[in-house]
Amino acid sequence: MESPPVSAPVDTTWFTHDRFGMFVHWGLYALPARHEWVKNREKLTDEQYQVYFDHFDPDRYDPAEWARTARAAGMRYVVLTTKHHDGFCLWDSTLTDYQVTRTPYGRDLLGPFVDACRAEGLKVGFYYSLIDWHHPSFPVDGTHPRRDDAAYIEAAADRDIRVYQEYLHGQVRELLTSYGTIDYLFFDFSYADRDEWWGGKGPDDWDSRALLDLVRELQPGILVNDRTGLPGDFVTPEQYQPAGPMSAGGRPVVWEACQTLNGSWGYDRDNLDDKSADLLVRMLVDGVSKDGNLLLNVGPTGRGDIDPGARAVLADIGRWMDLHERSVRGCGPASYTPPPDCRYTRRGDRLYLHLFSWPLSHVHLPGLAGRVRYAQLLNDASEIVRVRTDPDLPAHNARMGGQPADTLTLELPVRRPDALVPVIELFLTPSA
Ligand code: GLC
Repeated sequence: MESPPVSAPVDTTWFTHDRFGMFVHWGLYALPARHEWVKNREKLTDEQYQVYFDHFDPDRYDPAEWARTARAAGMRYVVLTTKHHDGFCLWDSTLTDYQVTRTPYGRDLLGPFVDACRAEGLKVGFYYSLIDWHHPSFPVDGTHPRRDDAAYIEAAADRDIRVYQEYLHGQVRELLTSYGTIDYLFFDFSYADRDEWWGGKGPDDWDSRALLDLVRELQPGILVNDRTGLPGDFVTPEQYQPAGPMSAGGRPVVWEACQTLNGSWGYDRDNLDDKSADLLVRMLVDGVSKDGNLLLNVGPTGRGDIDPGARAVLADIGRWMDLHERSVRGCGPASYTPPPDCRYTRRGDRLYLHLFSWPLSHVHLPGLAGRVRYAQLLNDASEIVRVRTDPDLPAHNARMGGQPADTLTLELPVRRPDALVPVIELFLTPSA
């Protein structure tokens, strides 16, 4: 039986308006710098992993700089990993010593982060891992770094998930009572259906019903994701672009794709799978055209910097956003079918045609004849001339012809505008 959504529905207006946020994966795994699952992948013991705790000293941590970087890229909210699967906490939790104030750095990281976001006018989000590979009462399963160690498993046989549950609920209480208003919470993740992970863990293990009630009680307006195993306020496709608007039980749902710059969430020094800035802009636009958000990740280094490659790609995205923001912010899908290699977004009487590839001289827009008052390139407000081809005349020599009667044709400059994704702004007639 499907559970009802997290108590009363909350207002998601800011979220579906803002459309673009920054995910920050940061913790001890920034030091090995080979993926945030390194403890799992390399089956490291707590003792082996301890070296990163003992050397955690991000001397260049400057959350104001992160917040400025996010805003300049056109992002309007930031979500930080307060605790990842390795169990390390970025705040001064009273419930564990496995936290930042016990490292050489010795100070809370979360308070300054929250203040920096607010100062930059950004909404604040927390990520919290339900999985915990450090906690002594977290029952060992197939995701655990020690999953192949028979002696360890035997010694852990009587671990009681209820003890861990209490810790988990207690930490969430700390997070949601110590830093003022928190706008967004990303729990990660449930996997009760995963046989290869020994049956996994899910809502019964986390006591998700009580957890979600607690979250709402402490932060009535907060948006919570769907990874506790119970429905939340939005769904979270990860590392893929949905084929269309998302729905559950036949009803549209609010969604946000979380995406990496290079396939890894944590800082991954030798990774070469960088996505280009134009691909990332296309992903943002593609999502908005399907009524979704983009949460784009950075994995700062062990010293606390967003690395130069990530900064460069975010700066490129920011240059595009500077000129094209109004084609994504506050926009959603349109009911018209776009031409090949294009996406439409819409806000009120504005229809935005995003051209993922630049055609020769013309683009044909089915269904838009008589529905457009004016058209311009968005980057420089230069007019785009509208023509109608005669549907009764076939294409011949220099005559285009042959387009259906309801098609509007636009004349394009041969030279592609210098923008990662060129956008044409169409002013629709009142009836369109
Ligand atoms: C996954 C991974 C994790 C990452 C998250 C982001 O569930 O386990 O490392 O934090 O996705 O959505």
